[in-house]
Amino acid sequence: MTSKYFSAFINSSIKLEKGKVVSFIPKKAVEFDPGQFFLISFPKNLRGFSFPWRVKKSIVFYLNSEALNDNYELPKYAGLIGPLGKGFPKPLGKRIGVLVEDAYIMAALALRDVIKGKVAYFTGNEDLGLMLQLLKEGDNNTVSPLEEFKFSEFSSIYIIGSIDFIKPFLKRYGAKENITIASLSKVSCGLGFCGSCILGKTGKRLCVDGPGFRLSEIKEWVKEVVHES
Ligand code: FES
Repeated sequence: MTSKYFSAFINSSIKLEKGKVVSFIPKKAVEFDPGQFFLISFPKNLRGFSFPWRVKKSIVFYLNSEALNDNYELPKYAGLIGPLGKGFPKPLGKRIGVLVEDAYIMAALALRDVIKGKVAYFTGNEDLGLMLQLLKEGDNNTVSPLEEFKFSEFSSIYIIGSIDFIKPFLKRYGAKENITIASLSKVSCGLGFCGSCILGKTGKRLCVDGPGFRLSEIKEWVKEVVHES
């Protein structure tokens, strides 16, 4: 799916934790796969990278405080560039566990839309847990605290969040084939040329080669993480 520039109108926004859930109506229909992301650019130099989730004609993002101004007021228009990256690798098997950090909630929800069967979400944040439940009203997916996650119960595990969120799980489980990680940490240009998002000796870039990777694809980087103090 090739990237495009387009503009979008803000449909609604809700303050949530340290950011905002913002729904946009794009001028033209926009296609993307789960795990692909967008650059969102507002007038006055506010900008940020974020994962989209589709709700009818709207695209919904969670924008953290870095992409917002001090009073969290947003102009009516935004420019979007995307979709960027390759998205998530496909799950293995049918029992899917998703460990998700606050700002990555939309990526987790987009994943649910393409998975047949049940997704079990785990989050460390009560407010987000509530939001996940509200957004998924009427289906049979579950939301639980992170502490209740049990590795052996799942055929595929997605850990979606900042690198700091992901690292403790890598140290605990190592480079297991059935774990996929996804992160926008360190993404700066988003287009593959600045090198700021390279994962150690693998040479893989989060922005264009990912942002989702099976751990078997980035074993060397996982080893570096596991052994760092
Ligand atoms: S963010 Fe610049 S290469 Fe990935």
